Amino acid sequence: MADKKFYITTPIYYPSDKLHIGHAYCTVATDAIARFKRLTGHDTFFLTGTDEHGQKIEKIATEKGVTPQQYVDNIVVGIKDLWKLLDISYDKFIRTTDEEHVATVQKIFKQLYDQGDIYKGEYEGWYCTPCESFWTETQLVDGKCPDCGRPVEKAKDESYFLKLSKYADRLIEYIEAHDEFIQPPSRKNEMLNNFLRPGLQDLCVSRTSFKWGIPVTFDDKHVVYVWLDALTNYITALGYDSDNTTLYDKYWPADVHIVGKEIIRFHTIIWPIILMALGLELPKQVFGHGWLVFDGDKMSKSKGNVVDPVMLIDRYGADAIRYFLLREITFGSDGQFSNEALVNRINSDLANDFGNLLSRTVAMIEKYFGGIVQENSAYDEEKDAEFIAMVKALPATVEADMNALQINTALEHIWAVISRANKYIDENAPWVLAKDEANNARLGTVLYNLAEVLRYAAVILKPFLTHVSDKVFAQLGIEDEALMTWDSLFTYGGLKAGTKVQKGEAIFPRIDVKKELDELEAIKQANMAAAAAKAKEAEEAAKKAEEPVEDVPLKAEITIDDVDKIDLRVGEIIEAKKAEKSKKLLIFKVKCGATERQIVSGIAKHFTPEEMVGKKVIFVANLKPATLAGNLSEGMILAAEDKDGNLAMLTIDKDLPAGSTVS
Ligand code: ME8
Ligand code: MG
Repeated sequence: MADKKFYITTPIYYPSDKLHIGHAYCTVATDAIARFKRLTGHDTFFLTGTDEHGQKIEKIATEKGVTPQQYVDNIVVGIKDLWKLLDISYDKFIRTTDEEHVATVQKIFKQLYDQGDIYKGEYEGWYCTPCESFWTETQLVDGKCPDCGRPVEKAKDESYFLKLSKYADRLIEYIEAHDEFIQPPSRKNEMLNNFLRPGLQDLCVSRTSFKWGIPVTFDDKHVVYVWLDALTNYITALGYDSDNTTLYDKYWPADVHIVGKEIIRFHTIIWPIILMALGLELPKQVFGHGWLVFDGDKMSKSKGNVVDPVMLIDRYGADAIRYFLLREITFGSDGQFSNEALVNRINSDLANDFGNLLSRTVAMIEKYFGGIVQENSAYDEEKDAEFIAMVKALPATVEADMNALQINTALEHIWAVISRANKYIDENAPWVLAKDEANNARLGTVLYNLAEVLRYAAVILKPFLTHVSDKVFAQLGIEDEALMTWDSLFTYGGLKAGTKVQKGEAIFPRIDVKKELDELEAIKQANMAAAAAKAKEAEEAAKKAEEPVEDVPLKAEITIDDVDKIDLRVGEIIEAKKAEKSKKLLIFKVKCGATERQIVSGIAKHFTPEEMVGKKVIFVANLKPATLAGNLSEGMILAAEDKDGNLAMLTIDKDLPAGSTVS
């Protein structure tokens, strides 16, 4: 078992500037499984990443006046920060804009075309831009996207198609013969009955109406459909068909793709067919988890319901958030998120059951034995047998749960032992034993058993909660790393007599529920008020933009020759900072063709340096250099201004290289 490989993946995320707690759910669950596999001796590879192409990204970037690449680069930083806060132990973070991924997708597309599995045709149907999904007329629900309920657009295009129909029968047979392939089982029937058995239409796998995608090498009007691009990440990340296929050779096929229920369809129909067409093995399992729902809705930024994971981690710590997500929601089903459920879970399971067990145990060892763990020499069959049997069985129970990906059940089983240990304290009443010295050996044994079960819990909990185990080991005085391993749980009684315990801070401080809920509600109200104010501001700005402008008198007439003297260029702002000696000035480093120059601009009251970086602006490139407040300025950036002095930058409505001329 020691070197058995395990390859697990999360979906790759669409770049979004604010991932909500629902997104975190999927990645935390995958992390817990990956960590569990590592702890139990599997050579594990855990992949996550971002899905960065598509019309939606191109559109948002254009609205923000930055290039799609700059937009995604910026967001990926935030996503990685969140995964760091949540202690996500991924082995690789793939981005679909990675050169190697792009090159391999291009090769795959070409291969499938050359072998006749991709062909050129014409597409007519419906497209949901937010979901990047094509739908046929019959798949729409009330004329809207069946996944998200938003309006769809008619799409007609020359297009490449993937022959799903050719592989449909093989796929049906495969799914029927492999019960474990689609999990939970209800999803399997849904795929067979709703999609596969009614017959598969060939899938449109290229687009010509936007540019932000992987170009089809032999027909560069087309970019590869984002889902074909995205799904292949699971093999390109391992170096499939590259110069170095070591990881691919070792880890493929994936042991499990963990995905949200709304994207099971892509993972159990399109993805296996791509693999079949390439002659590759299929993943062993696709597990579809449910959604974290908030006020009855799948939290999604576009619907305005956001619960900010960073704020929650900040308040309660990553362990508490991880615990809540993993414990509260049955893996595979939907689960409710509410502040009340969160706070109550933290209090009852973490602060009370677990926290108290540790603090009581350590306190009693200090009180009765000066902090020294005693021998477990006074076994009492009647009082100990059932309890110790339960503790000894826990590792195997949890391993079975985790093999079945029943994460919440694994935690239930761990907490059953923690609760049992609390009951064991009451049954043995150490404070009564302590009244008579004749009971010393028995008292020492009772406390030994409690400390040992806490050691078991700390080892087993490592994959789920990533910080608390070290605190438990520290309070128990365990320094020997051999006592922190999974293997150390094969023999009960690993904790050594003579170990000195050390009382520490409460591992999970108790929360004042009423006060906490009031504060959370206040934060929510403030967020909603801020969002409403922002929306109103935007609405007013839009209204104002419609108002006729008072005529500003024109300057004296000029000729085309005068205009021709001005060399206007597209410049990309690559750095921006405030000027030291002036409150009005911003200093930019502007890229123009192969050169860079500094331009100083009096717009500090209107724009922050951060929002300017990445913008492609229009500037006068042949203006005589000047010095402004001691800073050299080699050009002038153009902006529009209304009568109230509001500024808007001149940018380009489609991406063009820095240095492009303007006329
Ligand atoms: O679908 N509860 O990306 P994505 C639970 N790029 N999980 C949730 C959730 C919620 N409220 N909201 C989102 C994509 N998720 C594609 C994947 S894979 C080749 C391409 C989960 O950013 C969602 O179910 O929309 C999905 O598993 C993951 O977050 C990423 O979603
Ligand atoms: Mg989604």
